[in-house]
Amino acid sequence: MRLPDFKEARTRDIRDYKTVEFKVEDSIKDKYKGMTFHVKTYGCQMNEHDSENIKALLKTIGFTEEENYEKADLVLLNTCSIRENAHNKAFGMLGRLKHLKEERPELLIGLCGCMAQEVSVVEEILKDYKFVNFVFGTHNMHELPNIIDKAIVENKQQIEVLSRESDLVEGLPVVRANNYKAYVNIIYGCNKFCTYCIVPYTRGRERSRKKEDILKEVEELVRDGYKEVTLLGQNVNAYGKDLYDDYNLANLLEDVAKTNIPRIRFTTSHPWDFTDEMIEVIAKYPNIMSHVHLPVQSGSSKVLKLMGRRYTRESYLELFDKMKKTIPGVAISTDIIVGFPGEDEEDFKETLSLVEYCKYDNAFTFIFSTRKGTPAEKLEDNTPLKEKEDRLQRLNEVVNKYFLENNKKLEGEVLPVLVEGISSKKGMYYGYSETNKLINFSSNKDLEIGSIVPVKITASKTWSLDGELDG
Ligand code: 5AD
Ligand code: SF4
Repeated sequence: MRLPDFKEARTRDIRDYKTVEFKVEDSIKDKYKGMTFHVKTYGCQMNEHDSENIKALLKTIGFTEEENYEKADLVLLNTCSIRENAHNKAFGMLGRLKHLKEERPELLIGLCGCMAQEVSVVEEILKDYKFVNFVFGTHNMHELPNIIDKAIVENKQQIEVLSRESDLVEGLPVVRANNYKAYVNIIYGCNKFCTYCIVPYTRGRERSRKKEDILKEVEELVRDGYKEVTLLGQNVNAYGKDLYDDYNLANLLEDVAKTNIPRIRFTTSHPWDFTDEMIEVIAKYPNIMSHVHLPVQSGSSKVLKLMGRRYTRESYLELFDKMKKTIPGVAISTDIIVGFPGEDEEDFKETLSLVEYCKYDNAFTFIFSTRKGTPAEKLEDNTPLKEKEDRLQRLNEVVNKYFLENNKKLEGEVLPVLVEGISSKKGMYYGYSETNKLINFSSNKDLEIGSIVPVKITASKTWSLDGELDG
């Protein structure tokens, strides 16, 4: 048994790590042929991509995928810790699985992802969720085949969580969710330690993948006909700092652009690490999409300081203006937290006024959720929940107003759209524009999923646009 330890997870030292190649042991290859799995994924794109690796790892030992979790031999929850409700969802699902296991005692249940890195969660599982067969964390996903094998062979609960990052594993197998757009990890972990955030504890310190490994992966995707890559990291703007003196996200974006993959996206960006050089590269290459997700969190410099964000309202706006000026037609989206401890009505009004200025193309808004073990847990919080809910609603009214206003400006324009599927309405396709707008559109001919087609925008809504195939 290996248990998570927050004291260790909290240490900020950057350790030496090696890059190692993944290999599944011959003795367990295809050992569980005939068994089925169902993976449920909660949380961010990083987790979605981890699940693509997890599914492929399960296939190496013979499992096949089952769409209906109630029929699967193994149900694995890939969990998220970011807010209380992510926790509640996973525990709710564990409750349902408990009943299922009463009916089918041979059912295997596993839990992994960010919640597995939390001491309190693992303690709860050890105490009250003895029916969970195995738990592993974000740092040892590659050990999954052996952990399952041990859980089955020994018929005993396996808790295998590392508190700190291990070596960086290359060559993990992957089953991608589709064959035209792909996630590519470029950096793992986060060193920023924003005071509200659990990610540095669940994902470890920043570790960049070698540029050669990333470029090889993108080149393979190009050869396989992929149209879009999203470069992933908790903070992609820190890419390379731990590995190179003279190679950073700007250089990587430029090299990825030169592979000629039609669309490049990247997420998430911390404003503190965003350099002029990066902005210039985004502006220079047409295949780097002109969309930047730039979480602001708050419009009040006082609150930003309490959050440990390392920028002020003024320096954020300076960066924002520079982007708008330099990158033609750039869409900027954001994340905002309301009700952070110490945020008063004046601070909140500063957030509203910042939103009025930035007129974001998209925004994810949240009420602050206390995370165990983070510094913000200890801050005094005098704002009642009702007041926080009221702030969220007022904020949402303003952000929504600008989503619609921005969308309206696109009416009549012809935009390139990557076709992703056919919507429930008959004959209507849907896809995303370069600036990541969802577009539902009609077409008088059959279109290939994964192709990029010109669409004329005919109507705008708050969260989507309507259009018709142009020509
Ligand atoms: N409470 C509320 N929202 C949070 N986020 C991160 N941690 C918390 C928390 N403790 C939000 C931030 C981040 C997004 C992914 O989730 O806005 O950018
Ligand atoms: Fe959730 Fe953050 Fe973990 Fe992603 S990294 S799964 S958002 S806690």
